[in-house]
Amino acid sequence: MDTPPFPRSKVQTSSMLAFQPNKEGVKAKDPATVVIFGASGDLSRRKLIPALYYLYEDGFLPKRLSIVGFSRTPMTDEAFREIMINSLSEVVKDPGELAQHPLVQSLHYVAGNSTNLDSYKELQQRLTELEEQYQIPGNRLYYLSVAPKLFTPIIQHLSQAKMLYDKTDESKWSRVIIEKPFGTDLESAQALNRDITAILDESQIYRIDHYLGKETVQNILTFRFGNAIFEPLFNHKYIDHIQITVSESLGMEGKRGHYYDQAGALRDMVQNHIMQLLCLIAMEPPSGIEANAIRDEKVKVLRSLVPMTPQEVAANTVRAQYTSGIHNAEAITGYLEEEGVDPLSKTETYVAMKLGIDNWRWAGVPFLIRTGKRLHKRVSEIAVFFKQPPLQFFRQDSHPDLCLLQERPKANRLIFRIQPVEGISLSFASKRPGMQIDLEEVKMDFFYRDAFQERSPEAYERLLLDALRGDASLFTRSDEVEYAWRFISSIHQGWNENPTIPVAQYRPFSEGPEEAKELAPLNVRWQRIQNM
Ligand code: BG6
Repeated sequence: MDTPPFPRSKVQTSSMLAFQPNKEGVKAKDPATVVIFGASGDLSRRKLIPALYYLYEDGFLPKRLSIVGFSRTPMTDEAFREIMINSLSEVVKDPGELAQHPLVQSLHYVAGNSTNLDSYKELQQRLTELEEQYQIPGNRLYYLSVAPKLFTPIIQHLSQAKMLYDKTDESKWSRVIIEKPFGTDLESAQALNRDITAILDESQIYRIDHYLGKETVQNILTFRFGNAIFEPLFNHKYIDHIQITVSESLGMEGKRGHYYDQAGALRDMVQNHIMQLLCLIAMEPPSGIEANAIRDEKVKVLRSLVPMTPQEVAANTVRAQYTSGIHNAEAITGYLEEEGVDPLSKTETYVAMKLGIDNWRWAGVPFLIRTGKRLHKRVSEIAVFFKQPPLQFFRQDSHPDLCLLQERPKANRLIFRIQPVEGISLSFASKRPGMQIDLEEVKMDFFYRDAFQERSPEAYERLLLDALRGDASLFTRSDEVEYAWRFISSIHQGWNENPTIPVAQYRPFSEGPEEAKELAPLNVRWQRIQNM
C-alpha cells in the first residue's frame, strides 16, 4: 500500500475557529445490527471495522448498535475482538484502551456456513438474543463481503430463514450491501440483478462502489453544480477533451493474482470506478440531490456510450501487461510470473481507451481513460482540457519583436485531484514580467489539506453511514451496472474476437505502454502521471 489506511489529517494551526458541523441531520439514528458476512476477511479487518470505529468516535452511530461477524472459521467473540483490536491498533491513536472501547465491546461473532440453511437458523437465534440485549427493534444491515458466487445463495438463505423483511414493514428494516464485482459481464450482472430483485426491493439493495464514497469524488458534483462559473463551459463548445487516470503502483501483492487474472483492469477498475467518474464528470444537472435523481442522470451518460464494434475496439483501446524489472535496486516480478497468474495469460494489467459520449453536450469530445497496476505513481485524477482561444495573438511568428512564445500556449486545464493529493487546480497562461510578451502556464491550486482542518472521511465510513441511514445516493442502481457492463462487454468481445489485437508490455513503475500514446488524437498528449 502506498499510504497507511486511515491516515488522520494533520490539524493545522490556524486562527480560525474550528468548523463545527451540525451532525444531527446526518447521524444514523435507528438502533441496528450490522451483520458482516466474510467477517474474517481482509476487507472487514482493514476497512469495515476501522470505518465503524471512526464513525463511532465521530458520534455518527446510533446509541444502540451491535456488529456481528459471520464466517466459516470457528472463533469466540473474544477471539474475533482480538483480531479487530490488532488491526485497529495500527490506525488509532491510543491502542491501549481498545479492548474497553464501546465499539469493540459491541463486536460479536457467529461461525457458520453461508450455503447451509442450518447456519442461518443459528445466526438468526444469536441475532435475536443480541437484539434483545441491545434493545434493537430488528433493523439489520447485512454486508456481503464474500466471493461473488455467494451473493445470491446468501440472499436466498436469508430470505428462507425469514431474516429479510418486506420493505413495507414500518417497524423494522433490512438492507443488504453487496461488494464488487457485481457480475463479470452483462449476462451475469443481469442474472444477478434478476435473482436478487426477486427477493429484495431495489430500495433494500446497496451495490457498493467505494470510489463514490471518496470525498473528492463527491466533490465533482458540488464543484460542477454548486458553482456558476464552470458549468456553462462544460460541453463540446469549450472542452477539447477529458482525460481520466487511475494509476496504481501496487502489483498483485503476492495474493491477488488468482482473482486478478480472471478479472483484468477492465473489469476490476473500468466497469465500476472509472465509469462512475465518467458519469459524474459528464452528467447533466440532476433534478435534485436524492438518490434516484442522481442515478437517473448517470444512467443517461451510460446509455449514451455506444458499444464498440470489434474494429473500433482495435482502433480505440490498448491493453498491456507489466514486465519484470528493477525498481529502486529491487527486482520486480512481472505479471506473468506473479503467483496465481497463468503464465500464458492475456489478462490486461493496464488498459487505455478513447471513447465518446453520444449526446447533445458531449458529441465529438474525446474521453481518454487509462488505468493500470505497477505504474510510476499512485494517482487518480480527471483532467479537463479546454479548447484554445479562437485567435493566437501571442506567437513569435505573428509578432517577431514583441512576442517570445514559439509554440501555441498550453490549453487551460482543470484538474480534479482525487488521490493521493486531494484538490482541484486550474492552469492558465499568464504574461511573464518583462518588456516583451512571453506567456507562461501558471496554476491556481486548491488543496483540501490547506483549505480545511477536518480530515476527509474514508470512503467506507461514508458508505456505511449512508446505508445505516437508508440513503442510497452513493450506491449504484441495477440499470447503471447493466449499462456499464453493456459497454465493457463490447470491449471484451472485441478483444476475444480479434486475437491479433496485441497485449502490449510496459516496464514496472513506468507511465505505461508506448502504444497508449497513439490513442491520443492529434495535438493531444497524456497528462504526466505525477504527484503534487
Ligand atoms: C478495487 C480494486 O476495487 O480498487 C483494486 O479491486 C484496486 O484492484 C482498488 O487496487 C483501488 O482502490 P483505491 O481506493 O486504492 O484507489
